[in-house]
Amino acid sequence: MLNRKRLLNAAKKFGTPLYFYDADIIRRQISYFQDAFRTFPVQIRYAMKSNSNISILKLMLKEGVGLDTVSIPEIQTGLLMGFQPEQIVFTPNLVDFNEIREAVKLGTSLNIENLSNLEKFGREYGSSKSCFIRLNPHIIAESQTEKVANWHNQSKFGISLNLFDKLHEIISKYGIVVDGIHLHSSHVIMKTEVFLKGAEIIFNLAQDFPHLKYIDFGGGIKVPHYAGEKVIDLKELGNALKPKYNAFCNKLGKKIELWFEPGRFLVGESGTLLTQVKVLKSNGLVDFAGVDSGFNHLIRPMFYDAYHEILNLSNPDAKKKKYTVVGNLCEIDNFAKNRLLNEIREGDILAITHAGGYGYSMVSQYNSRFRPAEAMVTGDKMQLIRERDTLDDLLRNQIEISF
Ligand SMILES: Cc1ncc(COP(=O)(O)O)c(C=O)c1O
Repeated sequence: MLNRKRLLNAAKKFGTPLYFYDADIIRRQISYFQDAFRTFPVQIRYAMKSNSNISILKLMLKEGVGLDTVSIPEIQTGLLMGFQPEQIVFTPNLVDFNEIREAVKLGTSLNIENLSNLEKFGREYGSSKSCFIRLNPHIIAESQTEKVANWHNQSKFGISLNLFDKLHEIISKYGIVVDGIHLHSSHVIMKTEVFLKGAEIIFNLAQDFPHLKYIDFGGGIKVPHYAGEKVIDLKELGNALKPKYNAFCNKLGKKIELWFEPGRFLVGESGTLLTQVKVLKSNGLVDFAGVDSGFNHLIRPMFYDAYHEILNLSNPDAKKKKYTVVGNLCEIDNFAKNRLLNEIREGDILAITHAGGYGYSMVSQYNSRFRPAEAMVTGDKMQLIRERDTLDDLLRNQIEISF
């Protein structure tokens, strides 16, 4: 339940557009995750691509959560914030081998997801360093859009099971120590059965990796985007996985540690994008509410057709009317089409909910508009955690030449 008064206070105190996070919701989600897998040896590595604000990273560290990273600067940020290299896993996609070298130097765990880099890894390190292998088991998971169907055999992610023989040829050629296997499905796991299907494939393949210590199940646990939306029950998933996991470890003769890389699950619900309605406009057919934001600040509705609940915080008891909520970019820029909302007046503050994951981290300066500020409440304390851009930020790094 959103705290309407607090959100209105935040909008007043810090201005709009504003990303506002509730640290208690992040703590609650971490506990929920830990509880669901309490009976397993388990490590949680927060996928920091979903929200890399350093105060959020610091909260994760404090709560005993490690990091899943996809770039060297993400690793460096994590190290700067106090994470130890062993708490960080690097899961890059199709990167130059120099990035892999750098991660090895920095001492993180490493996921390799293509045969070209695996071959280079073998040539350079032989059996002196270990790595994880990211596999693509070609499960067609449930997905809202084709864009996020990552286990699908059309996707670029992971090493296809069709290449399993070649994979093992490279491993044995260089004596590569594979101590982990990894699979990830992005934002699409809504049912226990889909997860278990992936797990079973991995458990069967695991016997071919004699040095195995870890299985990394990635992220991709869906979260609700509006109150009451049905999503996976993690406790039920933990219970259903347990007998399969036990049988697998017994067969292997050792305990395998499970890793997860949740992103949105930990931060999605904690974040709200607060915007102010600047202009009401009708074209005779559609009533538009134009806000001081746009897909430059939250791209998910336009990019993934994602649904985010919108609430009119300023007029919560008014009767409902249909609005198309649009941003101020010179582009088609919808947050919601024909959505029933409490009557909107110019100046009202709208809350776009469940925006904590892949919200700010996908922000751009398109249309030369400032990136929003971010604030966080922890206990009773409401603090800014990122300043709004200024003109200096827009001009930074640009070079004016003479003509
Ligand atoms: C390898 C990997 N792990 C974890 C995640 C986090 O996914 P989510 O935020 O859906 O939990 C992603 C997201 O794309 C990913 O690619």
